[in-house]
Amino acid sequence: MISPTRTPTKRTIRDITNHQLDTPSRTPTKKQKLDDNIQISKPKAVTKLFQPLVAATSIYSRAKALFQRGYNFSNNTGDCLVSRDVEGKYLHEFISYSLKLNVCNNLYISGPPGTGKTEQVKLTMKRIVEPGFKIVNINCMTLNNPENIFHEIARDVFGNLHIGHKKMDSELFFKTLNKEQDELKSIIVVLDELDSLITRDQQVLFELFQASNINNSHNLKIKLIIIGISNTLDLTDKFLPRLIRNNLSPETLQFLPYTADQIKSIIISRLKSLVPASGDTFPIFHPSAIQLCSRKSASISGDLRKAFDICYKSIELVERNLPPFQTYTDFNSSEYPKVMIPHIAKVCTLSFDNNSISNLNLLQKALLCHLFNYQLENIGKGDLSVNSFYDYYRKQKDANNLLGILKIGEFIEIISALESSSCVVINDKSKKNSGAGNVGMGNKIIKLNVSYDDIVKSIEEIGLLKRVLKSCN
Ligand SMILES: Nc1ncnc2c1ncn2[C@@H]1O[C@H](COP(=O)(O)OP(=O)(O)OP(=O)(O)O)[C@@H](O)[C@H]1O
Ligand SMILES: [Mg+2]
Repeated sequence: MISPTRTPTKRTIRDITNHQLDTPSRTPTKKQKLDDNIQISKPKAVTKLFQPLVAATSIYSRAKALFQRGYNFSNNTGDCLVSRDVEGKYLHEFISYSLKLNVCNNLYISGPPGTGKTEQVKLTMKRIVEPGFKIVNINCMTLNNPENIFHEIARDVFGNLHIGHKKMDSELFFKTLNKEQDELKSIIVVLDELDSLITRDQQVLFELFQASNINNSHNLKIKLIIIGISNTLDLTDKFLPRLIRNNLSPETLQFLPYTADQIKSIIISRLKSLVPASGDTFPIFHPSAIQLCSRKSASISGDLRKAFDICYKSIELVERNLPPFQTYTDFNSSEYPKVMIPHIAKVCTLSFDNNSISNLNLLQKALLCHLFNYQLENIGKGDLSVNSFYDYYRKQKDANNLLGILKIGEFIEIISALESSSCVVINDKSKKNSGAGNVGMGNKIIKLNVSYDDIVKSIEEIGLLKRVLKSCN
């Protein structure tokens, strides 16, 4: 099983097929680290025994590792990810400026899944050189209660001993930031999956963004710099207007979906890392295969994870069809079979095939039922946007009482997965009207792309959904 970079539930939903990839790439445990050290100090004779094993690693396994989810690609020596020069530079300047001027500040980063938000922020944080700051990274999804955020930040910065057993609420937290600390001038708090902090009254988020507003810098001795990351429309639609109304607009930075050319550059740069100093050439893939993979994934959503999944599965396909007992270990050999257009095409067909409807999970099938119902109830009423479909979905109390209500972000993830498996078609309305670039997923038009009979068949054994799906007879 692969290790997701975010919550397993969300990420598993978005896998392009039901197959899970192999080895999880996790932070090495203590034991693993210990083993690594032991290996370094092994006597020569023993080390020799291990060498052939390392050398014999198949080129396909090494290439597949590059595209595995959770793979830590640390080859980046610059400040920006490939194709994220503008965003990376902006982020770097934002932080350097805030630290140099010794002010509070906040930035709201938004963009659809798999567009490099988390990865670029991580990279930028590694590159900051100014003195006197601490970085706190929190994935808000891991908090049991949004109000715990103040305690979590304080614990990370000052340590358990210093803050004592008492739970730190917002008041105590800001009081603590107002005490002089010799070395510590600023705290940079990266709040990933920020939407998890939304409460009914949005108070937690509001307090954080209010306190870290640049105009409030004089109120805190230790300056607070907040970088919030989110991929949901919910936050932009509901939370930002409140900040703007209160004259607290944060800086914003948008990560747009990757274009085909950007995806191509990213894949090629990863492949090149397999053969350092390889100039313009790269191993394993024929250039036209990368082209097809990039175009296909850009047309689905611009989510890099999808492109990587296609690459992974295509390499696996080539590997499966190798002559028996043949192992290829040298990228420089011209003999090994490469990933070609037909491999990519086959993986895409398998992954995005209509028949995959029976492989969908319960929530995905539930949304298909709701979409069918909507279309049945609104024949001739024109296009349905993803946002309007979400509003319709939220009103379906009976099903939601049993399955729970999805947040808009989760809803969009499922919609994207349904689109990947060709069960729905999502069109960019603005393209028709103006030929303009990307619009948010919420404004796109969604249509069912499977027949009523196929849905009926796929929910044959799911009583709950049989009750949800309306009859078209
Ligand atoms: N420009 C890039 N170059 C190389 N790898 C990238 C790039 N952008 C993203 N990735 C890789 O793609 C995967 C997804 O990126 P990331 O986690 O940053 O997406 P995200 O925008 O934070 O998505 P989400 O909203 O779902 O959290 C990661 O494995 C990351 O390493
Ligand atoms: Mg992320």
